[in-house]
Amino acid sequence: MIFGRVKSLDAILATAEKKSLHRSLGAFQLTMLGIGAVIGTGIFVLTAEAAQKAGPGMMISFIIAGVVCAVAALCYAEMASMVPVSGSAYTYSYAVMGELIAWMVGWALILEYAVAAGAVSVGWSGYMIGYIEHAFSIDVPAAWTLGPLDGGIINLPAMVIAGLVTWLLVIGTKESATVNAALVAIKIVALTVFVILAVPVMNMKEFEPFSPLGFGGISAAAASIFFAYVGFDAVSTAAEETKNPQRNMPIGLIGSLGICTIFYLLVSAGVIGSVGAQPVMTASGGAIEPGTAELTARCAEIGNQAVVCSKEALAWTLREIGWPQIGNLVGLAAIIALPSVILMMMFGQTRIFFVMSRDGLLPTAFSKIHPKYNTPHFITILTGIAVALFAAFFPVGQLANISNSGTLFAFAAVSIAVMVIRRTDPGRHRPFRTPMLYLTAPLSIIGCIYLFASLDHKSIILFLIWAAIGLLVYFGYSRSRSHVGLGHVDEVHEEDPDAPPQPVPPVS
Ligand code: ALA
Repeated sequence: MIFGRVKSLDAILATAEKKSLHRSLGAFQLTMLGIGAVIGTGIFVLTAEAAQKAGPGMMISFIIAGVVCAVAALCYAEMASMVPVSGSAYTYSYAVMGELIAWMVGWALILEYAVAAGAVSVGWSGYMIGYIEHAFSIDVPAAWTLGPLDGGIINLPAMVIAGLVTWLLVIGTKESATVNAALVAIKIVALTVFVILAVPVMNMKEFEPFSPLGFGGISAAAASIFFAYVGFDAVSTAAEETKNPQRNMPIGLIGSLGICTIFYLLVSAGVIGSVGAQPVMTASGGAIEPGTAELTARCAEIGNQAVVCSKEALAWTLREIGWPQIGNLVGLAAIIALPSVILMMMFGQTRIFFVMSRDGLLPTAFSKIHPKYNTPHFITILTGIAVALFAAFFPVGQLANISNSGTLFAFAAVSIAVMVIRRTDPGRHRPFRTPMLYLTAPLSIIGCIYLFASLDHKSIILFLIWAAIGLLVYFGYSRSRSHVGLGHVDEVHEEDPDAPPQPVPPVS
């Protein structure tokens, strides 16, 4: 039976108990953790893409995506508090819905993490180039800073930052709580300054027409801007280290999502009201997809005089409204803070690969450990190469959408899992229970399906192709090597999250 291969929850928990982390995180630290992981390319860069799709109506898109994330977050939190081990959605699915679904979720998480790391690298590149051009008046040729689909040849800065972060991960860099707090402060200050300068010069006329491309445009923008909220799962996965999780988890999750949503709404209102955010249309008034050579060419025709043409929307807006130096400083804040989002995403990716490899579903080479740095260097470098290639050749919005497709699939799977396990294992201890589960979880599933269906066709098709390849790999390679399938259920060794992953024990 194909859904029969379930990893025992007790086995997973027994190994997890061994490490028994100190419960030290309160609501405030959790909220900081969430904000640190969430604010990134979404608000700093994709605001321009959302405007191209929805115009001022992107404010509704931010609310829709925020609500879907909030209900998904509440489902995530129950699973995370009950199964507080690494592997997140992949591990939860393995325990509840069996190996095949778990494999597909893990396979989708590759999109979530690796492709997202590529998207944030491209976002970083936009700010870096903007900063060099404006702070040092150096003209950098677009051919080397944009991917081919965007009208360039290769995005070299994006490749460089992906390579740099890979190197940091290989030598064992992990972000400390202090560094996270400093980066959160930088991001919050940058967005606050933006709001303080942009909101007072808002002109309500700029909000008309509110939705030039209709509700379809608002939905498409919501599906893209969903990326701006991704990363809050960092909060759920800290469940085991949280004091009084039943109280602090929802505060941390909803608190960080709420604060980000408020910032996102204020920032987008500031952009719309101060410089206008109407989409750039073809000469005959037709819509143009963001991240295309067509848009780049059309923008060149109008002298790039629209926020939707900018690769550094917030810095561009500040320069336009007469604050060029502050615009450069906000750009600098993005340049400093975005690499930590790339780092978290790539770290998450290597961990997912590691757990899947430890379960026998991926080659054992994936969990090879570097003798000196004690990090899973092989898989980190492999991930880094993939991320650098994505970053080099694809536009930021396309990467964000592809990443969203994987994330939405994983969120929907977790929302189903949490209902299934309430039925199959009602007595198990749940440090956090999703409020009104039978309303929250279906809402989350419907929300994920709606956003998935609102993605651009290319991303949906790529997701389906990726899923088909996943099935081929599973039935061609993983299924026959699965430790659960081979009966090696005791091979589960949960590692300390603060220590580097250890090699997979040999299969006897
Ligand atoms: N939410 C993260 C960002 O916007 C992934 O960069």
